[in-house]
Amino acid sequence: MTDAKHIQHLRKVLNEHNYRYYVLSQPTISDFEYDRLLEELIELEKKHPELQDPDSPSQRIGSDIDNAFEQVPHAYPMLSLSNTYTCEEIKDFADRLEKLLPGHAIEYVCELKYDGVSISLTYSKGRLERAVTRGDGEKGDDVTANIKTIRSIPLLINGNDYPEHFIIRGEVFLPHAGFGRMNRERMETGEPPFANPRNAAAGTLKLQNSSQVAKRPLDCYLYSILGDNLPYGTHFDNLMKAKEWGFKIAPHLRKCFKLQEIFDYIDFWNSEREHLPFDIDGIVVKVNSYQQQRLAGYTAKSPRWAIAFKYKAEQALSRLLSIDYQVGRTGAITPVANLQPVILAGTTVKRASLHNADQIELLDIRINDMVYIEKGGEIIPKVIGVDKKNRAPDSIPIRYITHCPECGSELVRRESEAKHFCPNDTGCPPQLKGKLEHFVSRKAMDIGLAEATIEQLYNHGLVKDSADFYSLTKEQLINLERFAEKSAENLINSIEASKQVPYERVLYALGIRYVGETVAKKIVKSLPSIDALASSSMDELTSIEEIGDKIAESIQQYISNERNQKLIERLRSAGIKLQSDAPSRRMISNALSGKNLVISGTFRNHSRDEIKNLIEIHGGKNLSTVTSNTHYIVAGDGMGPGKREKADKLGIPVITEEDFLKMIGEQ
Ligand code: IVH
Repeated sequence: MTDAKHIQHLRKVLNEHNYRYYVLSQPTISDFEYDRLLEELIELEKKHPELQDPDSPSQRIGSDIDNAFEQVPHAYPMLSLSNTYTCEEIKDFADRLEKLLPGHAIEYVCELKYDGVSISLTYSKGRLERAVTRGDGEKGDDVTANIKTIRSIPLLINGNDYPEHFIIRGEVFLPHAGFGRMNRERMETGEPPFANPRNAAAGTLKLQNSSQVAKRPLDCYLYSILGDNLPYGTHFDNLMKAKEWGFKIAPHLRKCFKLQEIFDYIDFWNSEREHLPFDIDGIVVKVNSYQQQRLAGYTAKSPRWAIAFKYKAEQALSRLLSIDYQVGRTGAITPVANLQPVILAGTTVKRASLHNADQIELLDIRINDMVYIEKGGEIIPKVIGVDKKNRAPDSIPIRYITHCPECGSELVRRESEAKHFCPNDTGCPPQLKGKLEHFVSRKAMDIGLAEATIEQLYNHGLVKDSADFYSLTKEQLINLERFAEKSAENLINSIEASKQVPYERVLYALGIRYVGETVAKKIVKSLPSIDALASSSMDELTSIEEIGDKIAESIQQYISNERNQKLIERLRSAGIKLQSDAPSRRMISNALSGKNLVISGTFRNHSRDEIKNLIEIHGGKNLSTVTSNTHYIVAGDGMGPGKREKADKLGIPVITEEDFLKMIGEQ
């Protein structure tokens, strides 16, 4: 088979597996086999840049091209729905429609109301052309590169009976499992967790770097289709057709004629929604026939032929017994209410979040108060109010703690942060244990250790910081509960093996605030050893791509701390890699010293990464967005019109690949 044929074949096979996995949830190959095929395709495409194709499944891993989002008008405005909360209002809706459509038998379609971010996808000649957010309803942001990373959204349509142009709309969301995983990872790197899956999905779609989006497990259900030549005259039939074309259409649609059927659907999902793997905030009722939709028409804001029924977040009332103050891995303090047990959304709740000191003060919550708790989009229930009428006359306002409940240090509250922090990151037990968990985690030193074992090692005084792992002996472990000869040996072996972990992962393992996996990699590329990092200036740090003042300050703070310096020396003596094995990058000239460059599009003689590398080895800095600090834009083929406009507005010179090469003396 020629490479070209092989590429075609791989693309087809990968598209089929994508569809089976993400749309049908019926995979037929393992993730490993899938990844191998994908890697093979990426390799072949690298070898044959002339065969690149924006619709290739390889595009789903995203790219580091920045997406200064372009604003695009919607061909059909994106309207919202009027909301209702009671069955009477649904009856009023149906009565209004009967008056508007005399003599018509009205069929309704009931659907779930997904709690995510709406998206409008344009397909042209069977391929995904553009994805635009709702924006203000008239125009939105072009987020095509980000949307392409969502595996359940087809880049190419199955079959041949689709209209040449159509628009399909739906909701992008994060399923609970992916949301939990993402927040755990954020906490590991000291970033604040997202409050709920909807915020997380919205934040993700706005990321500038689609390869970061690709790492987040977004999904999408499509719920409406628009166009001139749709195959059927009803909403339901067209959605079923779209399902055949490969779109992910929710299986929970119901056609109904009678009001009672709508009420039953509302009731059913009100109790069943807690079992869904994603959030819904209500249901939507739509008139099925397009002809009837047209006759019913629109108000200024929403269609008269559709309505949303919103579920109230489930609430319960319970007594506040006491408040615990939890100390997180980053030292953040979270006040947690201990409650008289109460049933909420099917589970017994004994604890609920109180957020922070401001929230407690705002709600004026007092011990023994009856408090309202709510389970909204958030995973953990939260206290949202107080029943002040039934408050004991002698109750006193809560005084927020001033010292860490775990180590006694005085708490600090940094500017612009809502939470209090325990600053004792080198002596506070939950922070130390958190650091150890992070150090051994899979993407860091990969020493397979359960949380409970870390707790055990810590409580026995065997491991207080990460360097202590390297002086553990088999004899010490065997004496501990749950350890036997074999398990002790395994742990010692895996600690030994961690000495081979490359420096970039060691740097990540140190747990420096804001230094996640990607940042660690970027740092190591420019500063290939811990010693180079230790002697770097703020300017040097911030000239590294993606590193701004916040990260640079955090690094300098870490490095200048004497305890951390000692820890690093002990890790060095233990034989941990503190410098990169990769040959270090030489600086070639200062031709671009002090200059900020943005690259855009694709180039004829170099890959984007090569151009970026050239910028750096000639002393320049890569920026991802065009700002007034940009000195040049190096433009290749397919430079985004948004960027060009911005460059014109700011008067920034746009240069070609050839101009650039001349500038650095390579041509
Ligand atoms: S139909 C003109 N169907 O709810 C009708 N919307 O306020 C357009 N949503 O912005 C929307 N699930 O983001 C429709 N099954 C569903 C939906 C749904 C969630 C969202 C959508 C829209 C908002 C309506």
